[in-house]
Amino acid sequence: MRNFLIAGNWKMNGSTAMSNGLTDGIVAGMPASERVELLVCPPYPYLGTVAARIAGSGLRLGAQNVSAHAAGAYTGETAAAMLQDVGCEYVIVGHSERRAMHGESSEIVAAKFCAALAEGLKPVLCVGETLQEREEERTMTVVSEQLKAVIEMAGIDSFSSAVIAYEPVWAIGTGLTATPEQAQDVHKHIRDVIAAGNEQVAADVQILYGGSMKGENAAGLLSMPDIDGGLIGGASLNAADFLAIADAAAAQG
Ligand code: PGA
Repeated sequence: MRNFLIAGNWKMNGSTAMSNGLTDGIVAGMPASERVELLVCPPYPYLGTVAARIAGSGLRLGAQNVSAHAAGAYTGETAAAMLQDVGCEYVIVGHSERRAMHGESSEIVAAKFCAALAEGLKPVLCVGETLQEREEERTMTVVSEQLKAVIEMAGIDSFSSAVIAYEPVWAIGTGLTATPEQAQDVHKHIRDVIAAGNEQVAADVQILYGGSMKGENAAGLLSMPDIDGGLIGGASLNAADFLAIADAAAAQG
């Protein structure tokens, strides 16, 4: 049975005091369930301090972005090896905000996915459709194409060391949430796309839902057969709100 992964994407929020307080609050309230894994993805400057604070707690650490390059003259970029060096286990790649606002094509996202894997980091690959694409009934095509770019570059077996997050763009930060049924349809599709290449990898890969997930709607989403956790933005900035989602996962048994 797949574990749940409840992941907080803090985006560009916080300060030293805020990230320390939030980290300590999460560590203090983590559910005891062995089926629930918790992950926080703070901004780069706080990764080292958060890593020190979570040592031995079981709370996992990830970054929000990574360079596609290994090292060198890439001013302002951060290499996967550096993230690994400061204690990250995971890194988000292909978040829709980076695709839309930082010009990241699916090929760039695939290169970042490969760069992460090369240093032993688990990429959390984000895929999802815009409102227009959903209204044009192109959701499954868009998601398939986003996955295909990564499958072609990294190979299907790479998903045994990766996580996928389905994040409908129209649900991110909007307060609109996909219904459990809408999300399940896409999660099932994602698992089918992976299964076409390797059934065992598909059976094992964690597929998270992201987009205005919170304590009140988490149970319904997490009860669906192909939803294995959440990638949470807004509600991850408050320990009690984040832990409410973790508790909803723990309550699934
Ligand atoms: P949200 O963000 O929970 O604030 O909608 C989710 C995300 O962007 O990962």
